[in-house]
Amino acid sequence: MVISPINEAPDGAEARSATRDGPDCDLTVTQDLPTRNSTGDARPPSHVLVTGGAGYIGSHMALALLEREPSTRVTVVDNLLRGHRGAIDALVKVGGARLRFEQIDLLDTARLTAALVADPPDAVLHFAALTSVPESVEKPLDYFRTNLGGGLSLLEAMRAAGVSRLVFSSTAATYGEPAPESMPITESTPQRPINPYGLAKLQFEDVLRAQCAAPRQPKPLAAVALRYFNVAGADALCRVGEDHRPETHLVPIALEVALGKRPHLTIFGDDYPTRDGTCIRDYVHVSDLVDAHLAALGALEPGAFRAWNIGIGRGHSVREVVESVRRVTGHAIPTVMGTRRAGDPAALFADPSAIARDLGWTARFTTLDAMVESAWRWMQANPQGYR
Ligand code: UFG
Repeated sequence: MVISPINEAPDGAEARSATRDGPDCDLTVTQDLPTRNSTGDARPPSHVLVTGGAGYIGSHMALALLEREPSTRVTVVDNLLRGHRGAIDALVKVGGARLRFEQIDLLDTARLTAALVADPPDAVLHFAALTSVPESVEKPLDYFRTNLGGGLSLLEAMRAAGVSRLVFSSTAATYGEPAPESMPITESTPQRPINPYGLAKLQFEDVLRAQCAAPRQPKPLAAVALRYFNVAGADALCRVGEDHRPETHLVPIALEVALGKRPHLTIFGDDYPTRDGTCIRDYVHVSDLVDAHLAALGALEPGAFRAWNIGIGRGHSVREVVESVRRVTGHAIPTVMGTRRAGDPAALFADPSAIARDLGWTARFTTLDAMVESAWRWMQANPQGYR
């Protein structure tokens, strides 16, 4: 199977091919190299710290850095609470000695500081977080402690080590439930989160804004927040992928039904004010998200805090996702109608034009079927996840 970019490659981008033969991942893949690196010029970043690099999105990011920049070293910091040792093994296979893994909890400021001072990175990509909206409603303290407290601890360690460049994984959940007339969501849509997950992420954005404005020697903080919408899909060669335990996200749950691991999918409410009554979300492929981070690294400016939305600019309902999973997998996906899930806004989809205009980023995966197909390949190749 050949995966070709849906959009033209950006000007100046080179392409390279990779193949992997395997029972379920027999692919020939063309991947585009980033047009910019962390310094925004021709020099590759020499050392990047990826927090949460054993998790879903962080592992894809670390993989891209190792693969695309042959001289870049990557340090992954992860407490392995939700991340996977198997993801680290996959990264080591690609990066060898250029990948260093530190099993540290971000809340352990002393150990984190020691690691950063011993080997300071040029930039930090901060993915480590708890990421389930319903869990955040049940356990708000965990979410504030990890997602806000972990971020504060990271900033302290960065300051001690003289590291001043940060890209933060923020979320569309910071917008809460904008009125239908406010769709699509722009970066200036008011941020009024309706669950602890979104609130803690917004609070850390506020911290970053204040820190960027604060005087600091030798340089003030440079920070970008990328507000992700709903991320789906996996590495084209199935080396890393999505494996949450417990799984709460729609696409992998629907695929687990296709695999026969679950008898049915429960749809959380069909009485929302949407076209078919189910919630609408903007699904974006994890590889596109990784590209957005590479672009954001090149946009860091001392003393400036910037935020961009990352989505494809169109929403799909829960029912549409289920239909896509049926089409792509060829399996029946039995559904059961449930009640609304706490903390779920009816519809969220992005206006991604600001990052297209400012950084030249647009999504290459623009159809739900292409994203589901990508996630399905990973799941077929790894039915038990990382094990
Ligand atoms: N859903 C179901 N059944 C399920 C699982 C999910 O109907 O078994 C529904 C949810 O109610 C929701 C939609 O599918 O309406 C998507 O739910 P996910 O759990 O996949 O994703 P969320 O929208 O809750 O959250 C995701 C990310 C957050 C991010 C948010 C922004 O996990 O980090 O998208 O849109 F903030």
